[in-house]
Amino acid sequence: MTTTLITGGTVVNATGRSRADVLIDGEQIAAILPPGSTILGHDLAGSVDRVIDATGKYVIPGGIDAHTHMEMPFGGTFASDTFASGTTAAAWGGTTTIIDFVVQYAGEDPLTQFALWQEKAAGNCAIDYGFHQILSDVQDSSLTAMDTLITEGVTSFKLFQAYKGVFLSDDGQILKAMQRASENGAMIMMHSENGSVIDVLVQQALERGETSPVHHGYTRPWQAEAEATHRAIMLANLTGAPLYVVHVSADQAVAQIAQARDAGQNVFGETCPQYLYLNLEDQLAAVSEEWGDFEGAKWVCSTPLRSKHEGHQESLWKSLRTNDLQLVSTDHCPFCMKDQKEMGLGSFAKIPNGIGSVEHRVDLLYQGVVTGQITLERWVELISVTPARMFGLYGRKGVLAPGADADVVVYDPHGHTSIGVGKTHHMNMDYSAWEGYEIDGHVDVVLSRGQVIVAGGAFHGRVGHGTYQRRELSQYLI
Ligand code: URP
Ligand code: ZN
Ligand code: ZN
Ligand code: ZN
Repeated sequence: MTTTLITGGTVVNATGRSRADVLIDGEQIAAILPPGSTILGHDLAGSVDRVIDATGKYVIPGGIDAHTHMEMPFGGTFASDTFASGTTAAAWGGTTTIIDFVVQYAGEDPLTQFALWQEKAAGNCAIDYGFHQILSDVQDSSLTAMDTLITEGVTSFKLFQAYKGVFLSDDGQILKAMQRASENGAMIMMHSENGSVIDVLVQQALERGETSPVHHGYTRPWQAEAEATHRAIMLANLTGAPLYVVHVSADQAVAQIAQARDAGQNVFGETCPQYLYLNLEDQLAAVSEEWGDFEGAKWVCSTPLRSKHEGHQESLWKSLRTNDLQLVSTDHCPFCMKDQKEMGLGSFAKIPNGIGSVEHRVDLLYQGVVTGQITLERWVELISVTPARMFGLYGRKGVLAPGADADVVVYDPHGHTSIGVGKTHHMNMDYSAWEGYEIDGHVDVVLSRGQVIVAGGAFHGRVGHGTYQRRELSQYLI
């Protein structure tokens, strides 16, 4: 068992920051100590196998990305990151745990799908991983499967109010799943967009010959998100189930969540870096020499990027401060332009939906600290602490404390990160949605369960190191 001492840094948890040394014994944190501590007269640094100098740097719990889709079968293809490539990229960016989604399409058996996803991930992850489960057609058997899956550590279930014929559950099916969740304690995650409305708007746009990527945004208006969010909140209220709304992008959807929270309901919301920084005009409507007006396909995701003229981003940042939104995940669902996004040349409706960001979430959110939008502690809370609490990993993950897994990031606030293909880009994508982003801050060292997996600008980890994380019920409910 290797012993490691991280010295000289500022340890940041959700509750505050302090100058402290972190002693790691094997896979776990053994102690958080005053800087330069001695034990029985012995200099601690001289008694451990390895010393990591974190002078002038932040020492934070490893990032937890609670929303990823590695090798997801979707839109007629597969998300381009495998569990191996995606978790390696995540590690580079300071993320030490992902929670991915088992996919159950209509007609498939949830438990069979869970076994399949366990097989895909086992031995193929560079960092630890857990699963949520997507439920598509909620049958009686799906409800009993929920109970079983909870005993397997899958304690959250994603339902969809959009993608008719693919994922969509009708309100009655949603109601039934929520009734079950109110009994078994599961978290209901919701993709809140009114799918019927969107399908009509998409059809009408295509009939008018509006086929370019920007029309993906125009046909998924904020009203469709806000309405579905409201409906999901009302169904959760009716049943008593906790509700977590994923990839929130519209100010008006945030308002629905805030109102429910003010009334004391267990309603939570997540946003993603793309909604905090990117927008409809500059990205979805972009034109390039290489791709013409198809350039915007790089940023086709759902919910869509919103107009920069409607105040959505200001609202999202504010909500991250006021805790109307609780965490930032990536919804990492990468597709290459070549052969994948290209499937939508001629019809935006055929562009596979998704953006890849798993490598950049920690850095991108740190810009909120740099610009004064969030505190250092809130940054750590959004990227690690709350994901752990929300999804039943806290204690083991999401905190630097004795007994916790030694998932640790040494973050250099004076460092610099240039994002882009050929620079920092380890995701299996032929473009970066973040090309040209210059980041104040740098992920210097990453440890996963006591092992250094990134240091000195090199990857020292191993695909297969990551282990399945059985999750408890949410530790965040009011
Ligand atoms: O566009 C997206 N969000 N793709 C991933 C699937 C989903 O709905 O989360
Ligand atoms: Zn979704
Ligand atoms: Zn997603
Ligand atoms: Zn550095």
